[in-house]
Amino acid sequence: MAQTWTPNSWRQKPIQQVPDYPDLTALEAVEGRLAKFPPLVFAGEARRLKSALANVAEGRGFLLQGGDCAESFAEHGADTIRDFFRAFLQMAVVLTFGAQQPVVKVGRIAGQFAKPRSSGVEKQGDVTLPSYRGDIINGIEFTEQARVPNPERQIMAYRQSAATLNLLRAFAMGGYANLENVHQWMLGFVKDSPQAERYRKLADRISETMDFMKAIGITSENHPSLRETDFFTSHEALLLGFEQALTRVDSTSGDWYATSGHMIWIGDRTRQPDHAHVEYCRGIKNPLGLKCGPSLTADGLLELIDLLNPANEAGRLTLICRFGHDKVAEHLPRLIRAVEREGKKVVWSCDPMHGNTITLNNYKTRPFERILSEVESFFQIHRAEGSHPGGIHIEMTGNDVTECTGGARALSGDDLADRYHTHCDPRLNADQALELAFLLAERMKGGRDEKKMVVNA
Ligand code: TRP
Ligand code: MN
Repeated sequence: MAQTWTPNSWRQKPIQQVPDYPDLTALEAVEGRLAKFPPLVFAGEARRLKSALANVAEGRGFLLQGGDCAESFAEHGADTIRDFFRAFLQMAVVLTFGAQQPVVKVGRIAGQFAKPRSSGVEKQGDVTLPSYRGDIINGIEFTEQARVPNPERQIMAYRQSAATLNLLRAFAMGGYANLENVHQWMLGFVKDSPQAERYRKLADRISETMDFMKAIGITSENHPSLRETDFFTSHEALLLGFEQALTRVDSTSGDWYATSGHMIWIGDRTRQPDHAHVEYCRGIKNPLGLKCGPSLTADGLLELIDLLNPANEAGRLTLICRFGHDKVAEHLPRLIRAVEREGKKVVWSCDPMHGNTITLNNYKTRPFERILSEVESFFQIHRAEGSHPGGIHIEMTGNDVTECTGGARALSGDDLADRYHTHCDPRLNADQALELAFLLAERMKGGRDEKKMVVNA
């Protein structure tokens, strides 16, 4: 029987990846202030996301989750948010129209600030400093002063998240996401890319469909679902003091919710069943993600599922698999079989980014072919096992960056220096993200047609 849970019961457990704050009184004061700030999201919204994900877990629909590896204070601005959002909408519409399935839209945004690190220190020449842990904790500049964890940064991250979320809500509900604008989501630099023609054709077909519907009286004025979309936020719940301060009781249900984002996930490095991150997450009612890497055993996964989703509720838990293009065939089938055997309800999502990071010309990068290859394997394996390939989790931006090699524009190792802006891991640019969406739509459609054939047979 599990022990009683409280928003601070994680403090009694061993914990990984904690920053070394020099001034604990200042940290406590900040957490006290945050605890009085308004919630960023509402419990009802998290429940709505959970029920959308429940459909995906049952085989209907697809989860699109993406955004920066790490948000930064420096890149905070309306243009960055808008460009991300329209690249994301383009992907969503390609998936919805191409695969004819509902798409659950979840950004890695408005709270994705804290980063787990493989080493506590970073060495440059003879100088060793604490590692950068994300803008919510310390600064990226390689100076002693910047690297000291500063609690005031949590307040900045909270305010940036609130402002970001405000604009995203306006875009999602205020007309920008109207399907009538499907042509306008094309970004300037994507316009002359190899994906542009494909996207234009799809957008033409949507416009034509909309014109037909208008002729028979179905318009975006009388059908809000044509002009609005549900867009949710998510981040890794790494900095637990911050999460605790934003953990609130929902007055309608009496349940505890993380109000820092709609969905939160547990990283591959902090998923020890008896440690703090799992303890915190088990007690809140939000939909949860769990990153699954090569070291996760089938029994280890079942233990975590029982802790995090004891009632086996569909939509509560998304397994975000990140094995690497060359390891997915070795690890995914055994996890799928264990989960299916025990009848556990989960969303299977594929993170084709984190297992495919290499170093090239001193840049951390990810070859686009390897990303596609992991996605392909993910679909093939699920088809073979009879389970539902339910989602994708990617690091992407709406900007024209050169961080991942390959793609239709064939970025090479020598191009990386041109526009390498990420604060942490390399992201797909808008062009590459769109190319991935087309591939996903094809695979999803393939699976659906196959299912139909079985039904008709
Ligand atoms: N409301 C529907 C949905 O979110 C249709 C829709 C409206 C949509 N705007 C969109 C779909 C933008 C994708 C992208 O699915
Ligand atoms: Mn990352």
